[in-house]
Amino acid sequence: MAEIVVTGSTGYIGRNFLMRAAAMLPNARFVGLTRSIRKARGLGLHQVRFVEGNVEDRETMSSAFRDASAVVHLAAAVKPRKAAEFFQTNVLGTQNVIELSKKAGVTRFVFVSSCDVGLPIVTRYSESKRQAEEIVTQSGLDYLIIRPTAVYGGFGATAMTGLQALVKRAPLVPVIGGGKQKLQPLYVDDLTAIILQALTAQVRNAVYEVGGPEQFTHLELIRELARASGKRGPIFHIPIPVALLAWVLAPFPFSGSFGILRERILSLSQDKVVSNERVMRDFDLTLTCLSDGLAGAQRLGSRVTESA
Ligand SMILES: NC(=O)c1ccc[n+]([C@@H]2O[C@H](COP(=O)([O-])OP(=O)(O)OC[C@H]3O[C@@H](n4cnc5c(N)ncnc54)[C@H](OP(=O)(O)O)[C@@H]3O)[C@@H](O)[C@H]2O)c1
Repeated sequence: MAEIVVTGSTGYIGRNFLMRAAAMLPNARFVGLTRSIRKARGLGLHQVRFVEGNVEDRETMSSAFRDASAVVHLAAAVKPRKAAEFFQTNVLGTQNVIELSKKAGVTRFVFVSSCDVGLPIVTRYSESKRQAEEIVTQSGLDYLIIRPTAVYGGFGATAMTGLQALVKRAPLVPVIGGGKQKLQPLYVDDLTAIILQALTAQVRNAVYEVGGPEQFTHLELIRELARASGKRGPIFHIPIPVALLAWVLAPFPFSGSFGILRERILSLSQDKVVSNERVMRDFDLTLTCLSDGLAGAQRLGSRVTESA
């Protein structure tokens, strides 16, 4: 029977996607590619056949693609220790996943890329995602590429969870470059809804950017997070000029974690906003506003704590 292969199944988006997909399509068969069966079993996703494999090594993944009819490719190095991993996992890994998909006769390939690819490329992460997109678009497979902004909510910690914890507890919040850069946080359920629809959408061979329905400056976002956490009183922030940080980190090796950190800081100083016009035209969607998304995340958090 035809199976839907999900790479990166134990990651933040993979886990949230599989939970939604299993609930919405109870008769569909999902295969979750994972580097750790033990980690996968802990997710309690009984409808999913987990297969251990590494995208960097095609042989290890071949049994996952045995009966594949569609693929959701999420596996990626997002915060690796060494920059080379961006290319090994995101570029070579995507090439391997594409080759196995072609061999299996996959009829729909959904690739989750990043909004960073549509911006001036300042990190090796974005460059690796750009190269991965090129492999997908030139593969000859029927594909849809989704480029999300920063995602929050659902199960698992995100950059937003970390920022919210900091805003709640710390008297001072460091912000990069004065906090004027714009963000458009996307609720994870909205992204997983798009991925699910992308598996059967009439449109094909297209790239969609998607972000939340609102744009905030970094400082406005901090205020929203404080409000959602019930923090009263003023929030003090310390602006950290980007140039100063880049200069401080400059002596460290380009390939090591400081080199990656330097790029991440440059990336944080970019406006990360997209137009939702195309995605709203072609998908059946209502995007969740931040206050509702944060309330949903909080409800989920307390449910998890209660059952722990
Ligand atoms: N989260 C966001 O805000 C966001 C925004 C834009 C785009 N994206 C994109 O969305 C996708 C999923 O992101 P995420 O937030 O879920 O990331 P994540 O939590 O870091 O998960 C990444 C997943 O990829 C797997 N992986 C990494 N290297 C692998 C390898 N060599 N072989 C097999 N699997 C490997 C990881 O497996 P292990 O569990 O074994 O580590 C994990 O399941 C990524 O492509 C990312 O670029 C995410």
